[in-house]
Amino acid sequence: MNLEADLVAHLADSLQSHLGSAPDVAVVLGSGWAERADSLLTGVERLPLTGLEHWPLPRVEGHSPELRLGTLGDQRVLLCGGRVHSYEGWEACELARGVRAIVKWGTPSILLLNAAGSLREERPPGSLMPFSDHINLGLPNPLASDQSEDGGAHFMDIVDLYEPTWRDALLVSRPELTPGVYAGLSGPSYETPAEVFRLQQMGADAVGMSTIPEALAAKSAGARVMALSMMTNYAAGIGGSRPSHAEVLETAAEHGSTAAEVLAATIQAAPR
Ligand code: HPA
Repeated sequence: MNLEADLVAHLADSLQSHLGSAPDVAVVLGSGWAERADSLLTGVERLPLTGLEHWPLPRVEGHSPELRLGTLGDQRVLLCGGRVHSYEGWEACELARGVRAIVKWGTPSILLLNAAGSLREERPPGSLMPFSDHINLGLPNPLASDQSEDGGAHFMDIVDLYEPTWRDALLVSRPELTPGVYAGLSGPSYETPAEVFRLQQMGADAVGMSTIPEALAAKSAGARVMALSMMTNYAAGIGGSRPSHAEVLETAAEHGSTAAEVLAATIQAAPR
């Protein structure tokens, strides 16, 4: 049987042999981010995920299963399509495997993107939220002993999981952004209005179904981590909202050009 560490090391070697040296920043794309992100890079090289043995492949609409390596300013940037989710039946180590391989390859900075439901009226659909922190209410932890690379449980301080220097640099170039707290639930059903009320009371600003497992794995592997949510809808019950996947994709597409600008600013703000 393969140890998770062997699968990760094998994938890191494959990335090196297909794409050469590691990029400065890797960006894990979420629902609706892929198309616009593409236009930011020049000199793009593509690598389909199907060419990478043991890389979990997505089963949800709106995710393109390939890696794209290109240049933005003076940085080499890897865009990772094809995120997988816990609600598709993947385990934490599988959610983390790609990010772990990308960090082992030598990538110092990981940016995680997602679509989220807004828990605050002052964050309307289309607005963007850099993470200040998260509340994990149902997503699996890749640092548990049966999910880690070495079979051990990793007790990690995550006070500054989302890199303060990265966020501060972003806020200098995009002062209109307000960081906030992301609540992670397993999905795939959206929340009940009662859950949404409770999440608001807990101090969360956005709710989604991804990102946290990858953030934990990337930090544990030694990378600097930042995450950015696009509010694609008001969470269930707020102003009578009844979220749907179609609405999520539609809103993401509508607000794509601002999202691409903020994405570029976030990549440029990555710690050097
Ligand atoms: N809830 C959970 N996840 C989401 C939502 C939501 O309202 N919108 C986009 N992802």
